Amino acid sequence: MSRSKGLFEEAGRIIPGGVNSPVRAFQAVGKEYPVFIKSAKGSKLVDEDDRVYIDYIGSWGPMILGHNPDQVLNRVKEQLDEGSSFGLPTKGEIELAKKVVELVPSVEKVRLTTSGTEATMSAIRLARAVTKRNKIIKFDGCYHGHSDSLLVKAGSGLLTSGHQDSNGITEGTMKDTLVLPFGEIDAVKNALQENQDIACIILEPVPANMGLICTEKEYLVGLRDLCDQYGVLLIFDEVISGFRLSLGGAQERYGVIPDLTTLGKIIGGGFPVGAFGGKKELMDHIAPVGDVYHAGTLSGNPISVCAGLETLTTLQENHDLYQTLEKRTKNLVKKIKEIAKAYDVSICINQLGSLFTLFFTISDSVTSLNDVLATSTENYNLYFHVMLEEGIMVPPSKFEAHFVSSAHMEEDLELTLSAIDKAFKAISERS
Ligand SMILES: Cc1ncc(COP(=O)(O)O)c(C=O)c1O
Repeated sequence: MSRSKGLFEEAGRIIPGGVNSPVRAFQAVGKEYPVFIKSAKGSKLVDEDDRVYIDYIGSWGPMILGHNPDQVLNRVKEQLDEGSSFGLPTKGEIELAKKVVELVPSVEKVRLTTSGTEATMSAIRLARAVTKRNKIIKFDGCYHGHSDSLLVKAGSGLLTSGHQDSNGITEGTMKDTLVLPFGEIDAVKNALQENQDIACIILEPVPANMGLICTEKEYLVGLRDLCDQYGVLLIFDEVISGFRLSLGGAQERYGVIPDLTTLGKIIGGGFPVGAFGGKKELMDHIAPVGDVYHAGTLSGNPISVCAGLETLTTLQENHDLYQTLEKRTKNLVKKIKEIAKAYDVSICINQLGSLFTLFFTISDSVTSLNDVLATSTENYNLYFHVMLEEGIMVPPSKFEAHFVSSAHMEEDLELTLSAIDKAFKAISERS
């Protein structure tokens, strides 16, 4: 028996479902047990059976420099000698905050959290407190972590597991979260006209939790205008897109500036950190200077902070990193399309920066959750299984994005393409 299988059985006896986050169970792709990872370096993962995989999950986003990059590893080792958590302020927090303020256009002041979930939860609380309104607008298929207000029609994890997204959440909370279809500006206009009690609109400016959806700039501009018109705060959840689509995230790439921004993943360089930030006037409502509470024993802990700072500095110092990543990803996508054509497999690929999702569909475009739901789960699952067999780790769900890192080299991409050739051959032979 494979060690992963044995470990999964053992885990299932003491951890619900054997995993600490549902998507890791590989249930959606019909695999009996997930792969247990022992170590990772660069573009590669090594499992407990010593099989090596080229990784396109990248810990769901943080590993833009690949796994365990030397400069981050060395900085973390130095910090470990100094201590791992003090519960008191440190110089590193100022340095990381300065870096975020320097890089992210909308952020003048920033608070660190321990996860993306805490960042979005706190940003929503701040928006409610400042506007003195109760309701929020979010969009179908956007995921913002698992706090109550935001766990309604919430994208990948829940779509993947097919579970109810509102179990355990009070009716009152659900009533205060209005869920609208992504990309339809008139739906937002109508909701704002009908409701005077809306504090904020929160969205992933480029959704990556229903697979990747490439947002139109006009939509973001439209949301900005409506928020200004109705005195509603605009929150960009850049937990995935931040430092991924560019150093300044989607807001820099699209040139649309939100009131508040939430960050996670890359900002911690593979260690647990999140952040929320925005204009000084807004952020100064946070305790202890203001009266909106936010706290955390491990918020801004020194290990995560130094890993994040080292990661952001590396990204900033490598001037052509984003261009190279995008070029490499575009090239990969182009070749995937050629293979699909050769085998007559119908696909549509959404790609932006170093993110892409491969949808098995006859449609030319995938722009909404309904479009994603209509894509072939069967073909995606066969793709996943062949890729895994060939030593390529792609997301175990059609509702997720592939993450390319700066550690993915030409030879990784060549091996990926030859695995895709086998996957598409298998798909074409079955249909
Ligand atoms: C856009 C977005 N927001 C928030 C979160 C929650 O972050 P975390 O898992 O760190 O709590 C995620 C997690 O995937 C995310 O993709």
